[in-house]
Amino acid sequence: MPPQLRRSEKSLRTTDSPITAYVQKALENPALVSFAAGLVDEDTFPAADVAAVVAEIMADPRASRAALQYGSTQGDPKLRKLVLDHVCAADGVSPAELSLTPADVCITTGSQQLLYILGEVLFDPGDIVIAEAPSYFVYHSLLQSHGARVLTVPMDEDGMRTDALEALLEDLKRSGDLGRVKLIYTVDYFQNPTGLTLSAGRRPKLVELAKRYSTDHRILVLEDAAYRELRYEGPDLPSVKRSDPTNEYVVYTSTFSKPCAPGLKTGYAIMPPDVMAAVLHLKGSHDFGSGNLAQHVAARLMESGAYARHVAKLQAMYRAKRDVMLAALEKEFADVPAASWTVPVGGLYVWLTLDGVDTGPRGPLVAAALDAGVMYVPGEFGHVTDASGDLPRSHCRMCFGTASPDMIREGVARFRRAVGAVLPRETRRLAAAR
Ligand SMILES: Cc1ncc(COP(=O)(O)O)c(C=O)c1O
Repeated sequence: MPPQLRRSEKSLRTTDSPITAYVQKALENPALVSFAAGLVDEDTFPAADVAAVVAEIMADPRASRAALQYGSTQGDPKLRKLVLDHVCAADGVSPAELSLTPADVCITTGSQQLLYILGEVLFDPGDIVIAEAPSYFVYHSLLQSHGARVLTVPMDEDGMRTDALEALLEDLKRSGDLGRVKLIYTVDYFQNPTGLTLSAGRRPKLVELAKRYSTDHRILVLEDAAYRELRYEGPDLPSVKRSDPTNEYVVYTSTFSKPCAPGLKTGYAIMPPDVMAAVLHLKGSHDFGSGNLAQHVAARLMESGAYARHVAKLQAMYRAKRDVMLAALEKEFADVPAASWTVPVGGLYVWLTLDGVDTGPRGPLVAAALDAGVMYVPGEFGHVTDASGDLPRSHCRMCFGTASPDMIREGVARFRRAVGAVLPRETRRLAAAR
């Protein structure tokens, strides 16, 4: 046996994402209906469009040399301009109105890389991030790795409650901890995991609060807009970034993974110049540039209009799947008053609450669901324990992205059987505990 590995503090703090085992189970057992993994539907991948643009690139010696060579750390200038114009068009403004040029855009290896590197830029162990409760659990793991503390703000139908955010910032000011607050994190469109969206009215408020409490250093807002383009009804809402006309407070990040193909692993971020400089220094050490071929492919998909057509197709397809899941829940859970769920207007997730049922990984429902042939993500993964050590344990994240409409119906029926098997027992357990 060789001597024991002596790992860094950071490595010891870093654990596998809790969902990895769930994704693995689903891949190993195709008979299982998986509402667990937040994967996108493989049948939607734009293979023909990608084949066409790759062929175009490779047939042109100049284009192929550019695409197969190293790129820059910041990313392909053409793609940076395209995504900036794309985001500003969605916000109904010109880049100049938000003090932005392509120099304020960075192309990243998925938006996940930006989340990680921005963490490296900002956090020393003990620093504070304020996030929605619940929030994107992979981000929690990443913060744990950086040694950052997560404080949470509850959500309602309008997303993060800005009144509660203000109260928390005020408390932190009073306790002398405001100096440790570096970032406010929001997944503001069809949030992973709840499907909830930050309302138009609360968006400017978020920036106003970040500014107001930036007394001895700047508190940034990280707007994770990964699902923005997967909207199934109603008009798009202006980004939080739209309320930062001087490009000082908000880092906006999004991705080609959800609205196009995760295999491109290409994301982008728009950020203030001093944040950009610090991000690029670290990104240079990580990779001195994300995969260049994928960037050239993404740029051509955007330029040719194939991207926009693809997004429109995805919206129609996921809207139909969402409707199937919501209708199946209505049908199967009509007689279960303990059950309620969100009605998302976009994204990939329904957040289901089962009052009085322990949905956690060690609770009875996970095992019953697996027996019935269906899987969900325990909602507690999206939560952090509060000051009293409590963790909300009666939610499930149900992803309608991957299963076919028939399998969604079947999966919800199986899930109903699993809930039926544990509900009486759980109700009795609760009654005894009272
Ligand atoms: C909220 C959120 N942000 C970021 C990501 C990262 O995606 P990617 O790195 O593929 O762009 C995901 C992926 O599931 C996500 O759900």
